[in-house]
Amino acid sequence: MDVLRVEGSAPLRGIVQAGGAKNAALPIFAACLLTAEECTIENVPDLSDLRFMAEILRALGASATRSAPGVWKIRAEQIGHVAPYELVRKMRASICVLGPLVARQRCARVSMPGGCVIGQRPIDLHLKGLARLGCKIGIHGGYVDVDASELRGNYVFLGGRQGPTVTGTANIVMAAVLTPGVTRIESAACEPEVADLCDMLVKMGAKIEGIGSHYLKITGVEGLHGCTHRILPDRIEAGTLLIAGAITGGDVTVENVVPGHMRALIDKLEECGVACECDPEGQSIRVVGGGPRRPVDIVTLPHPGFPTDLQAQMCALMALTPGLSIITERIYPNRFMHVPELARMGADIAIEGPSAIIHGGAALSGAPVMASDLRASAALVLAGLAAEGETWIQRIYHLDRGYERLDAKLRALGGNIERLPVEAMPVSYIDE
Ligand code: EPZ
Repeated sequence: MDVLRVEGSAPLRGIVQAGGAKNAALPIFAACLLTAEECTIENVPDLSDLRFMAEILRALGASATRSAPGVWKIRAEQIGHVAPYELVRKMRASICVLGPLVARQRCARVSMPGGCVIGQRPIDLHLKGLARLGCKIGIHGGYVDVDASELRGNYVFLGGRQGPTVTGTANIVMAAVLTPGVTRIESAACEPEVADLCDMLVKMGAKIEGIGSHYLKITGVEGLHGCTHRILPDRIEAGTLLIAGAITGGDVTVENVVPGHMRALIDKLEECGVACECDPEGQSIRVVGGGPRRPVDIVTLPHPGFPTDLQAQMCALMALTPGLSIITERIYPNRFMHVPELARMGADIAIEGPSAIIHGGAALSGAPVMASDLRASAALVLAGLAAEGETWIQRIYHLDRGYERLDAKLRALGGNIERLPVEAMPVSYIDE
């Protein structure tokens, strides 16, 4: 078990690369189940979530091997149709195998994913979409049982209380590509990761129109072939690195990004007084902090709105920004596990319903803190870089789910951060 030791750092400076997007790679791995031919996936980040998704594919009968750094070869020649509880319960995104199994096997038995610390995480919209395609669905013993012997194209509305569903859209698209007839999805999620999945499916022979929009038209085909696909850059990792530059008042350039996927973050960073420069070729973004900062009002929304996956990181930045900032969480109203930990470092943040009311400006001081979910962990790292003194972060396996070598990337920018065995931590801090 490792911990992170972070010390207040000088302004971060330098150039860093963003890796491939976790939230594109997960459904894309699942999409390899749609064909018996080999798929080669490139620019895959080395993350525990992806190694786990590969384990699920193997449990279904596929082969999944990392053939080179960042390159996976996946072949689902003969597969079953059952995704067991003991695997699915460990990672919610496993639900992404549901759509491909329905399409390829015409039946599926997938454990219900359950909730997690950021919220209830329902799948009612996933099941509604499959039912619209003619699936007969039952819930038995915590499993979703799907009979898809009579699949047919249909109109599907995928909007829910909090807007579109990202993995729900992925599942219905992956089911529809092999469903006879035409499927029209209204209120589809248009996150770049969904568009990346659709781009790969088209390479495999799928017929999809409206990619990147809230309206997708899918014409079912008989079968799909293998392909080679490169995962798009991770806008959330890139955003986290940019906020690290801003929170330390540094000068950081993140390369291998798509600025067009990050307009909401750039808008809020500039509003808060952080200079942002996108290079003309659109491959990098540079932030220059250090000037006077202003409080902001942020509401998380489906893409192209402000991403919920950067909400915790912005809470850390605003805790150090003089004035009253309000950050409202419209996607996961309870996604504030980072707040009590930031408060241990001296942040003045009150939770009022779905909003964090942040009285920013006071210096933060290092403290022993506990990571709780992927993005909350990142927020604690950012706060530690800007705090006075030492911050020890435990349970950093949460961080490793979605960030490849974040500590090394930050260290290369001058951050005082190191990964240590838990025994290196003052014994009084060790979590029982
Ligand atoms: C994806 O989760 C991402 N995960 C999440 O990133 C991200 O926070 C989320 O989209 C929102 O952008 C992956 O892509 C693997 P949703 P997903 O279905 O698909 C409600 C991270 O940190 N909803 O778009 O599970 C739901 O409760 C992770 O990288 C229903 O009501 O999210 C939520 O309020 C965390 N019914 C909202 O919609 C459903 O059937 C958005 O959920 C499905 C969802």
